[in-house]
Amino acid sequence: MIKALSAVVALSVWAGVALAQAPAPSQPIKSQNILNLLPDATTAPGYQQQTNDQRDRVQPGNNAPLWRDAGAGVAGYSSLPDREAGVLIQPRVQYPGSSVTSAGEAWRQVRNDWIIPYGGALLLIILGALLITHVGKGPMKIRGGRSGRKVHRFTAFERSAHWTNAITFCLLAISGIVMAFGKMFLLPVMGSTLFGWLSYALKNVHNFAGPVFAVSLLIVFLTFMRDNMPSKGDLAWLAKGGGFFSGEHVPSGRFNAGEKVIFWGGVFLMGTLVILSGLALDHLLPGIEETRSNMQIASMVHGVSTVLMMTMFALHIYLGTIGVEGAYEGMRHGYVDEAWAKEHHDLWLEDIKAGRIPAERGGSASGSGAAASV
Ligand code: HEM
Repeated sequence: MIKALSAVVALSVWAGVALAQAPAPSQPIKSQNILNLLPDATTAPGYQQQTNDQRDRVQPGNNAPLWRDAGAGVAGYSSLPDREAGVLIQPRVQYPGSSVTSAGEAWRQVRNDWIIPYGGALLLIILGALLITHVGKGPMKIRGGRSGRKVHRFTAFERSAHWTNAITFCLLAISGIVMAFGKMFLLPVMGSTLFGWLSYALKNVHNFAGPVFAVSLLIVFLTFMRDNMPSKGDLAWLAKGGGFFSGEHVPSGRFNAGEKVIFWGGVFLMGTLVILSGLALDHLLPGIEETRSNMQIASMVHGVSTVLMMTMFALHIYLGTIGVEGAYEGMRHGYVDEAWAKEHHDLWLEDIKAGRIPAERGGSASGSGAAASV
């Protein structure tokens, strides 16, 4: 910046001296109006082959030849490693949603014209929808009231894996949102010094929380996979939306079909894409070279899949906290109220009562002080 400023100052001084020394022009200097194009310039023979200098004479300010060269994958000096060495500007591509242009610009178009505006809008829409549902309808209460009897729902191992994953997810979501959207809502409020410092700190949080999230997500996936396998009543549950709006009771096993959709769509599918693309961006994915095009593709996959994942988990977090009375305590202490179990997971409760599932699994829950009494 300082170099650029001093160059401008030097140029102005030089121009001043040159003007002072130049003989008085015989004719007054004519300015060029960049909108004054030579008539029929575009139909002149060789128009497409003109150099930038030739173009400037017939169409002042039209730098199309320069940018055409720039976007054509020109060779030149670059200090990039491996296959990219010597390639100054990447060749033309078309990424989904971009025009045909040099790859860096195509990536910029996808990010700035699609992922950021539509991804941001989707997140705001889901948050707005949850707010309207909560204010309009209120949380889902335990209809018949609590029974006071406790049922063991999650072991200490299941809860530890879940909370490690949930905490790292929240760190990644907050830092990711600040890095992607912070320029719009934080920069104007806190100014560039504080925002620069904050986003730099959060970038490091993101890079370190990512691998912990990846490992804990794999453990969560393996831990809960069996009980998230599709079962007979799932389609009926989905068709009735779990009775969330009608209040109707819809039978369900240990996890309902809504939880299964989030499990397979959010944990498995989006989780896989988010983690693989994130590890590629961190240069931790074996076999993926750190080239510009690989980083661009990884960045686009990461942006789309993280937005979809955050959308799904916004719903999960709402239902797991203030949306459904009695759900949070199961993941917090390991036990749920029997009335809650009967209302939300009656088939699972029946299995426990019939002895098909042990009433206490993996040792007692810590910290709840509750005793299983089914
Ligand atoms: C602050 C964030 C979160 C909160 C408050 C939360 C809360 C909960 C609660 C209360 C349950 C128990 C639901 C039940 O008893 O049926 C649960 C289950 C579960 N959560 Fe979370 N959760 C959070 C984040 C996450 C994240 C980030 C993931 C994975 C990426 C996740 C994956 C799961 C899974 C796999 C289950 C087991 C039930 C199922 O398979 O759907 N949770 N969560």
